[in-house]
Formats: sequence, structure tokens, C-alpha cells
Amino acid sequence: MTAPILVTRRLPAEAMAFLEARCDVTLFDEDRPIPRDRLLSEAKGKRGLLPLLTDRIDDEVLSAAGPDLAVVANYAVGYDNIDVAACTRRGIIVTNTPDVLTDTTADLTWSLILAASRRIVEGDRLVRATRPWAWAPEFLLGREVTGKTLGVVGFGRIGRAVAARARGFEMRALYHARREHPEAAALGAEHRAFEALLAEADVVSVHIPLTEDTRHRFGEAEFRAMKTTAVFVNTARGPIVDEAALARALRDGEIFAAGLDVYESEPEIHPDLLALDNVVLAPHLGSATVETRTAMGMLAAENLVAVLDGRRPPTPVNAEVLDR
Ligand code: DGY
Repeated sequence: MTAPILVTRRLPAEAMAFLEARCDVTLFDEDRPIPRDRLLSEAKGKRGLLPLLTDRIDDEVLSAAGPDLAVVANYAVGYDNIDVAACTRRGIIVTNTPDVLTDTTADLTWSLILAASRRIVEGDRLVRATRPWAWAPEFLLGREVTGKTLGVVGFGRIGRAVAARARGFEMRALYHARREHPEAAALGAEHRAFEALLAEADVVSVHIPLTEDTRHRFGEAEFRAMKTTAVFVNTARGPIVDEAALARALRDGEIFAAGLDVYESEPEIHPDLLALDNVVLAPHLGSATVETRTAMGMLAAENLVAVLDGRRPPTPVNAEVLDR
């Protein structure tokens, strides 16, 4: 008998086919996140869960699933939606989807850097509104990107890929991380203390995971510490940024512009941000390409099936469970 699993949203076809050939799949096949009560009821008796970042997998879900649950294979590299400690306590393996989305997310980060610096979306809104406009020496002036200083906060895979792309713009790259990374030298990136990076960077880009320590890492004091010409970009997780403080900083000219892909109370966006022209707002598109979403689906599916087959999954989060 094949193992019963729950997939909380339809994945790209290749991944669905892979899972359906190997497992007894229950799929929440609606065009919305699975409601909490359905997640709790559908999890019951499953051996594997394949959730999205919008699904909170906590002790309540693990209890509802019951003792047969062996694996939670997240369809995301970030796993702040999962209570990993609770899974570990119960001997449940958690996996994520690193690597396959690194370049895609770095590309999206750069599209926000460029769009915010060069006021692309503001310009698009203006021409669509059919307001009169003409080329003029000081019409819709942005901020230069080439030759400036990029400050990357968090130097994991995505932070490094963002820093690597700065070379194409002849930028100086700075990074802040808890430790100095030996691979930074090859990218020409220099380590800075957090406050020093905020003061020196023309573009500040966030690439740290969401934890209790990083919640509101960027607030009033941090925006005030940046240059008034700075562009701030967040493609990591929304709650790392105090959105009300960001909106105030943008409105009061404490920084020049921002580009956001993620939000504090996703999918809600702070109304003060919605009212501003100098922020580009993307609906969490970091990994949203056909190729990458397929690769994420295949990696999540392979992780899940590997655990159910008694093999080591390619990308475990709590590998200590495997080594017990
Ligand atoms: C992730 O994988 O954590 C991303 O946020 C999805 O794009």
C-alpha cells in the first residue's frame, strides 16, 4: 500500500505526477491557501505533509496528523512556517528547497533594486494614467546604480548571489553576517558591522531568515541610519521589517526608495506603503518562474519520497533526526 500524504496546493505538473506515481495523494485543490480546519482534518493519518510557506505547521498540526507522520517537506527554502523543534522532538524530518531558487530570487532582488532606483513602476503608472508628460532634464529622476555601494545583510546563498551580480554594475559590495565568510573575497565583498553597512551602502538588501531575533531588525533607527539617497530592498521575509517605520522613512525622505517582495502580515500590505510612490511592491515573486517552481516541486517531492522510502532526503533541515 502506498503511503498517504497531504499536498496543500497543486504543484507544477511534473512534481504532481512524481508524487501521484509513488504516494496516495490527498490534494487541497483550490486556488487559495488551505484553511486551518481543513489542514487539521486532512493531515490526520498522513505519513507525509507537503505544505507551502503560507501553511503554519505547528504542534497542533503534528498532533492532528498523528504518530505515523514521518516528514514535512516544505515547498520553500524558508521554513519559518514550521515548528522545527516540535518536529525534531517527535522524530519528524523537515526538509526545504535550497539552491534551486537562489538565482531566481537574486534576479528578482535586482529587478526591485533597479525598479526602485530608476522609478520604473512610478513611470509606468504615470503613462498609463495618460497624464501629459515630456522628456525634461529633471523629469522622474532616479538614483544611479552603477558604481555605487551595495550592502547585503545576510550572506547565505541568496545574499551571495545578489552580491555576485553587483559586479556587473561595477559596484562595491559590502555584507553583514554574524561571521566573516571566506568566499566573500572571491566576490569582492567586504564584511562590515551592521551599523557601518547601513551608513555606507547606497542599496541595502535583506537576505536573513525570519527568527525571533530578526523580527523587526529594520525599524525606525535603522532607516534613520541609512543615507537619505538609499534604496532598501527586502526579498527575504516580511516581519524582518517594521512596515510602519519603513513607510514613515519613505514619506519623510529619510531614504530614497524601497522595493519589497514580502510583507509583515502577508498578503496584507500596510496601507501607508500602498499610498506611497517611492516603493515598488511585488506579490512575493522571488522564486516565481516556471523553471524554478518546477525544480522546487521536484526537490520537495524527492525529499518527501526519500524519507518514506527510508532513504536520506537531499535537503534535510533537521538532519539530527536522521542521525539518531
Ligand atoms: C522561499 O522559498 O522561502 C521563498 O520565499 C519562496 O519564494
